[in-house]
Amino acid sequence: MRRLALLIAALLIAAPGEMLTGTVVDASGQPVEGARVRLRTSPSFVLTDAQGRFTLADPSTTPDAEITAALPGHIIGGAIVKHGIRAYRIQLPPIPAGDDPTYPWVTAFPEDDQAPRTDFGREPCGACHRRALTEWQESAHARSATNPRFLAFLDGSRRLAAGKVNSEGCGTCHVPMAPDDDPRRLADVAKEGIGCDFCHKIVEARPGTGNVTGVRAVELRRPPFGRQTVFGPFDDVPRGRDAFAPVFTESRYCAACHQARSGAGAIYSEFEEWQESRYVAAGITCQSCHMRGDGKATTMTELGPGRVARNPATLSSHRFHDSRTPDLLGQAVETAMTAHRDGEALVVTVEITNRGAGHRLPAGSPLRHMLLSLNAETDGRPLAMIDGPTLPSWAGAGLRGKPGRAYAKLFLDPASPGHPSLPWADANAVTDTRIRAGERDRSTWRFRLGVPGETRVEARLLVRRGFPEWAALLSIGTEDIAVATQRATLRH
Ligand code: HEC
Ligand code: HEC
Ligand code: HEC
Ligand code: HEC
Ligand code: HEC
Repeated sequence: MRRLALLIAALLIAAPGEMLTGTVVDASGQPVEGARVRLRTSPSFVLTDAQGRFTLADPSTTPDAEITAALPGHIIGGAIVKHGIRAYRIQLPPIPAGDDPTYPWVTAFPEDDQAPRTDFGREPCGACHRRALTEWQESAHARSATNPRFLAFLDGSRRLAAGKVNSEGCGTCHVPMAPDDDPRRLADVAKEGIGCDFCHKIVEARPGTGNVTGVRAVELRRPPFGRQTVFGPFDDVPRGRDAFAPVFTESRYCAACHQARSGAGAIYSEFEEWQESRYVAAGITCQSCHMRGDGKATTMTELGPGRVARNPATLSSHRFHDSRTPDLLGQAVETAMTAHRDGEALVVTVEITNRGAGHRLPAGSPLRHMLLSLNAETDGRPLAMIDGPTLPSWAGAGLRGKPGRAYAKLFLDPASPGHPSLPWADANAVTDTRIRAGERDRSTWRFRLGVPGETRVEARLLVRRGFPEWAALLSIGTEDIAVATQRATLRH
């Protein structure tokens, strides 16, 4: 079958005007097998055979057509298609060997609004990639080193009775560009948190575990002095310093920081939760949801030689959409409420479905939680609850003890049951009441119906970034986000 295909290919090559052929070789001239070859920006590619050969349809209708070839571990190569020439030889330059820890990270921020006059590899990434810069600046990644909430727990947790933070290792994920990943050494570019250059020097990643997390769980390839290499998801950027790294489109890329398992349980667990979801089989990755592009941009950079127009569907957003992105939460959570009379009782049922998050809901830091609170009253007078769940004391003033339900991953201190303890402190037990991807939670309450009248029921769902008690002690906000409200009215 394969022979036949090759024979047909050979015949087609022989027919002038229909096919382009060529060979892909490495720096020493040896054929490269399995390289991805395509006409730049075309949606499909072919793989080279054991002799490094490929065959492509002739793009004679497109001016400026370019053939590109890429294999992980090499710089992307290319050849401009010339009229009348049917056979091409493409060489893949090597990536500078090893990882140079003395490499000075390149900043994201252009000094002024001028276009770069040169392009020798140390120009701020945002000087050309304007859209990516704006999006990233709005993301949590751009603030990971300076986020007051992070700093409060890093240094200020002494003010909490809940335990002492073991701050060794925080910097590996929050401040990965700091020397020795020390979160307090915020010189220069390290302040930029999880920056462009850091992410685009990653060639491999594995889920964080124990104290091998963040920068320690990724493989970096920083070039030696005077050279530049940028790694990314595209295999058709033949500018001489870009390299294709398949890990960029895979969830395990994010898992180096969005997964961390140690003694008592997983402090960060989006990756393992995603792994047990149906999104894996559907090929839906972290990037599919959190880096979904706007569908409008047609270039990956606004400036710079060698850029081309691309299908908007192939480009991503660096906003790293989160619960502050309008509608993200609202569309991910479905709520439904029913209320009916059963003798002298009012029966209320609330269902919450995690229909859009690729992991449990809510996700993220172990301080984050979701609270459902219920209010039932007849003509303005609250009804007494007969049975049903209530909100825990850590829900804070105004909510604790009320009819409702809390969804949280809690690190518990056996010494003071029911109270959350610091997730980053030593061994604790963990309980998890969050809603798995695609699943539904259903809770029922019964209230005593008193005098006849108009009874109103209201269910409110909110997501919180932290426990009010700690937030007050550390002078940080809890950033409540109202997710949904359901109302019902009953006359009896
Ligand atoms: C947290 C890591 C991370 C950070 C920070 C980051 N990137 Fe990316 N970048 C990625 C990933 C992952 C992809 C691939 C996305 C995909 O395949 O959907 C990507 C894709 C790209 C692409 C390819 C074009 C596109 O739209 O997919 C460019 C260009 C790029 N990034 C530039 C930048 C610049 C410039 C910055 C800083 C302003 C930056 N990146 C910050 C991880 C990062
Ligand atoms: C002088 C302008 C300029 C600067 C500065 C610049 N880039 Fe780019 N970058 C480009 C152009 C042009 C392309 C190719 C665009 C295309 O193929 O459409 C590109 C492509 C990329 C890609 C895609 C590579 C791939 O194979 O997926 C990534 C990722 C990227 N740049 C990241 C960065 C990062 C990180 C920095 C800072 C260290 C940076 N760029 C600085 C102009 C620039
Ligand atoms: C180098 C470590 C690192 C990598 C790699 C990384 N992240 Fe993050 N990410 C963080 C840290 C640390 C934060 C928290 C920043 C903060 O809130 O101060 C964060 C925050 C986020 C948030 C926002 C959470 C919030 O609190 O609102 C999202 C969404 C996110 N990351 C998605 C991703 C995705 C998707 C990828 C993979 C393409 C990724 N991250 C790769 C470390 C990383
Ligand atoms: C099917 C789409 C989808 C996939 C796949 C997905 N997420 Fe999410 N993610 C969401 C939605 C929607 C939310 C908002 C709900 C929430 O806060 O829990 C969210 C929330 C988050 C948050 C908390 C941010 C915030 O502000 O609420 C982080 C961090 C995060 N995701 C990381 C990841 C990582 C890492 C992966 C891959 C292992 C991933 N996500 C896969 C849709 C997705
Ligand atoms: C494995 C990587 C990793 C390590 C190690 C790590 N973090 Fe995080 N941290 C994250 C990620 C990812 C997020 C974003 C999750 C979210 O907020 O949705 C985050 C979020 C946070 C938040 C919530 C920020 C906010 O605005 O809501 C705090 C506080 C925090 N981390 C403190 C710490 C402290 C203190 C340490 C060290 C004891 C630490 N982290 C170690 C990855 C890490």
